[in-house]
Amino acid sequence: MTQSTKTRSVVAGVGACLPEKRLTNADLARIVDTSDEWIFQRTGIRERHIAGEGETTSTLATEAARRALSAAGLAAEDIDLIVLATSTPDYTFPSTATQVQAALGITRGAAFDLQAVCSGFVFALATADKFLLSGSHKRALVIGAETFSRILDWKDRTTCVLFGDGAAAVVLEAREGAGSTADRGVLTTHLRSDGRHREKLYVDGGPSTTQTVGHLRMMGRDVFRHAVGMVTDVITDAFNATGFGPDDLDWFVPHQANERIIDASADKLHIAREKIVKTVSMHGNTSAASIPLALSVASADGRIKPGDLVMIEAMGGGFTWGSALIRW
Ligand code: UT7
Repeated sequence: MTQSTKTRSVVAGVGACLPEKRLTNADLARIVDTSDEWIFQRTGIRERHIAGEGETTSTLATEAARRALSAAGLAAEDIDLIVLATSTPDYTFPSTATQVQAALGITRGAAFDLQAVCSGFVFALATADKFLLSGSHKRALVIGAETFSRILDWKDRTTCVLFGDGAAAVVLEAREGAGSTADRGVLTTHLRSDGRHREKLYVDGGPSTTQTVGHLRMMGRDVFRHAVGMVTDVITDAFNATGFGPDDLDWFVPHQANERIIDASADKLHIAREKIVKTVSMHGNTSAASIPLALSVASADGRIKPGDLVMIEAMGGGFTWGSALIRW
């Protein structure tokens, strides 16, 4: 009798790149009417990294990709797919993914951007996973990269204190698994969108409307109100699809927007607080980069190990929201 196998998208390596410049809450208090106490109490953020001269979304993404390739023991020419999640591309076009592809010296396969704001990494991972499962591609770089500092209104204290810059990447490789949830790799992904919520979190410019880049605008309290419910819905979907529950998780790696949202989501789902990976204090909200940055921190410090069950989730502008359950 022949045994059936199933292709899985296995995480082969992860890498990150943060701009050198750090901006603390105290630094921000010199720019707008705010305080370290307000920012930390309401969000859990202490500092964030800000891109300097010559640093762009593609330069940060390229360095993160190089580090992920090195962690995976692979060369750039092993990659045949790049899916890059960003809302702050270098240019309106061509895509930032193609800039990264060129910088890495890759001339085969496909590279494209994907835009789902803070949920971008989950959407990009789910997309790359489906390409690998189809058999059309073998090894993907999935990148979350942002320079939100360039679309912030630095006079608006309700938004400029929340965001930071950075990039991180994972290498996904198609490997054969036994077809059970004990396999390494992406086990399930769940994506949702609801465009009726545009005005709660948006950028007030764009090529087809104002012909400007625009600035980020957010009704923070409304976003907060929706976040916990949306996040818990897609995590429940992942549990239902796999038969796993909160006690089975080794690590919960949420989008890092606000520590209060993270804790409330974990509590609602009965995920133990010690299983949460938090980087929001160091990075702020780096939108599509926040989850892979957190994955890179927790794998570099030895918390996330091969075989661990890792739940990622995000919610952001659109609204978009999604989850993925990964056997590391
Ligand atoms: O990643 C995409 C998803 N985005 C999010 O998840 C963000 C979701 N929202 C949030 O994280 C929170 O709503 C915020 C952190 C943005 C705000 O926290 P909040 O507890 O909802 O505060 P608030 O907006 O209700 O504002 C409370 C007060 C207001 O003053 P009044 O009206 O009560 O007098 C604000 O004007 O805090 C004031 N405020 C500030 N004070 C000092 C707003 N921003 C600041 C600031 N410093 N930076």
